[in-house]
Amino acid sequence: MEIIAANEQVDMAKNKRLLNRYRFIEYETIRILAGWLPATATMEYKLAMGRLLWEDAQHVQYLYKRLREVQTPAFRPPGDDALEHLMAEAIHAPTERDLLAGIFRVIKPALVDAYQWHRGQTFANPDAPTLYAFKHILVDEREQLTWADEALAYYPPSEWEQYIADLLAAAGGVTGDEPRRDAPPPPANRREFHAPKVAARDERFTIQQEQRVGSGAGPSPDERRLGEFESYSQEMLAAETCALILFESPKMPWQFVFDTARHCYDETRHCKLGIEWLERHGLDYKKVPQNTKIYEWRSQYDPATQYCLLTRGNEAHAFPHRHQSLALYEEAGDQISAQFVSYDMADERQHVAYGTKWLPDLMKSHGIKMPVDQFIEETVERWHAEYISGKLPLKANLNNT
Ligand SMILES: [Fe+2]
Ligand SMILES: [Fe+2]
Repeated sequence: MEIIAANEQVDMAKNKRLLNRYRFIEYETIRILAGWLPATATMEYKLAMGRLLWEDAQHVQYLYKRLREVQTPAFRPPGDDALEHLMAEAIHAPTERDLLAGIFRVIKPALVDAYQWHRGQTFANPDAPTLYAFKHILVDEREQLTWADEALAYYPPSEWEQYIADLLAAAGGVTGDEPRRDAPPPPANRREFHAPKVAARDERFTIQQEQRVGSGAGPSPDERRLGEFESYSQEMLAAETCALILFESPKMPWQFVFDTARHCYDETRHCKLGIEWLERHGLDYKKVPQNTKIYEWRSQYDPATQYCLLTRGNEAHAFPHRHQSLALYEEAGDQISAQFVSYDMADERQHVAYGTKWLPDLMKSHGIKMPVDQFIEETVERWHAEYISGKLPLKANLNNT
């Protein structure tokens, strides 16, 4: 048996400092990806971003579990202004490709290098739980780098990417131990990021003008089924709302971010489920007009209202229709449709439970003092009046008339 002796350059104090830095980078990456998910137009990127931010939430969870064993409180800022500046700047990219290049061609490769280096430097047996975390985190992170290589293959290195690289160098790299350079000035194309209130779609899509009321049920079973899976292919809208709620709720506890990252990822998976179903039936999901007005309507409300509209409106009310669908598909021997709906319902049960679990804290976090039951009742009434009616009124428009 070959035994590789660790160099043991990382003692416990340094270990904690480094783990705090990695945790901070992973956590801020979740927030940046959540902020940009609705603002990103390219559907393939949006679909991937749900998974990427959920994977990063798993990494924070691994690091959090280890950090709480070695320090209290478990979550601490990295105590390095230059590193905080890097992650604060990384969101202000001029374009979605620059954003992804900055994260996945600069920050993440350096993070992977740091994890790999750290594996050989810590005290192997005494710090085995950290090594276990790194081993699992690295599986995802390496795949993320491969994804970015392919997704950005034709995007040349940009001025923005160089800026991010220079900011990372100013922070002494991921570990903070490399020689530091002066922080660079921002490039002229830096674009101040604001929470997106409109959901972006790329030029392959058309935007639905007329609102369809209900879940797209048609007169025949085939039309009903088609309507249901076209509707699944639009669930990016729910992922975008989850992402916006996460981004706009920075004071919420870590477990909320962890659950909401999963919620967001699930909705991108439901969107994919619709895409896959349509493709298996010879149909192109890009031909389905995108009902982005739903996101725009929800995003005009505070995050607690958005969360209540989604979890207590859409998600809590979807079950009778889905159960009916499942019975119809099973009766018709339509295995694919039955399986897809079954998995969706398993996810949706969790989403409704997240709503019940987090709404009181989310209301508090956004300064809503009303009793929770009253808030739910009024918001569900609003959901009926504004969403189920198909009106989706925008307050900005109402104020202008
Ligand atoms: Fe869903
Ligand atoms: Fe859901």
